[in-house]
Amino acid sequence: MRILVIGSGAREHAIVKSLIRTGTRAEDIVCAPGNEGIASEVETREVDQVDRLAVVKLALEERVDLVVIGPEAPLVAGVADALREQGVAVFGPNQDAAQLEGSKNFAKEVMAAADVPTGMAHQCTTMEEVENALDQFGAPFVVKADGLAAGKGVIVTSDKSAALEHAGVYISGGVLVEEFLDGREVSLFFLADGKTVMPLSPAQDYKRAFEGDEGPNTGGMGAYSPIPWLPEGFVEEVTERVAQPVINELARRGTEFVGLLYCGLIVTDRGLRVIEFNARFGDPETQVVLRRLTSNLAELLMRAATGKLDVGPSAEFSKRKAVTVVLASEGYPTSTADYREVVGIESAESIEDVEVCKAGRVGRVLSVVGCGDSFQEARTLAYEGMSRISLQGGHYRNDIAARVS
Ligand code: AMP
Ligand code: GLY
Repeated sequence: MRILVIGSGAREHAIVKSLIRTGTRAEDIVCAPGNEGIASEVETREVDQVDRLAVVKLALEERVDLVVIGPEAPLVAGVADALREQGVAVFGPNQDAAQLEGSKNFAKEVMAAADVPTGMAHQCTTMEEVENALDQFGAPFVVKADGLAAGKGVIVTSDKSAALEHAGVYISGGVLVEEFLDGREVSLFFLADGKTVMPLSPAQDYKRAFEGDEGPNTGGMGAYSPIPWLPEGFVEEVTERVAQPVINELARRGTEFVGLLYCGLIVTDRGLRVIEFNARFGDPETQVVLRRLTSNLAELLMRAATGKLDVGPSAEFSKRKAVTVVLASEGYPTSTADYREVVGIESAESIEDVEVCKAGRVGRVLSVVGCGDSFQEARTLAYEGMSRISLQGGHYRNDIAARVS
């Protein structure tokens, strides 16, 4: 099976590594545009990921059997629709179904219709509505931009003026004021083929920039998988109460969801609640979830792309633990430094059970993944790998998976 992976981040590097680890030959994978780490493993091609015609042309030229779309931007731009129109099998939802990630209001409407547990929220289009909603819920305040905002659209704060200021930035596109949900966060991915869902293994992401969950929200500074503290039956509960009803509701509306349904959940005293959906693999959770996958990833993604998830075995995972730590460049996420060279990646990867997934040249630049029989071992390996890498001004959190055992 020949596969084209679209994207250029550590997530796509992790997908490529997992495809190879679980049985796909490196020469059967093409990644576009990819990055320098991905290019050291498989062929890469230049492409503008959000240019529908360019991606279709590439997929046809490369005679691939399957296209796997990594990031949200091409999904929201309708790249999957364009590929399907040409008869190419795609893992990644069409534009309308990708609205589950692209519009928080749409996600709330789907959840309400499907009776999925989530926080109470008000959709606001004026600052007056925002002010009223903030007063109704009280502190801490949660304000979310309706549309895609590259991880910067959400603020959680006890400072009402900061909440109002944030709302003011996004109000023209609509904002959502949500009740504050207290609990531990879990990311759970499902493969979806339009009708059926198949859960992968849960992961926890560390969203804040600095140790002790201080600082601004980021795309994610580290993750681990599996999650030992989850209640028994958690994955089944999310499947039955969240993932399957959402897929059913979308199908009922004629917007079948084919691809990855990312459920961002919070486990509260009153039970589980959805805080967000994404329409793609999470970054950096993918680095730890797919590190543990033992089933053939290409076959699973193809079954999802062709409506065959219900025939054949479920995804299987190693009992080993995986921990990933993200290295970010100076100033991330508030400002962007100039490109500086990263050194020591080869030395880090020379350690057994340490992998490095490369990302951008600035911002989040790479993820080091450690895999071991215990969380302590996996964490020690990830940090040993990180200690061999240097980037002037770079920063990473020292407390990823520190309290997990
Ligand atoms: P989102 O982009 O919706 O995942 O939000 C980013 C982060 O903000 C989440 O990972 C949570 O840490 C936090 N967050 C979002 N919604 C809530 C909420 N209703 N209550 C508490 N924290 C939240
Ligand atoms: N790590 C969070 C995300 O991928 O959205």
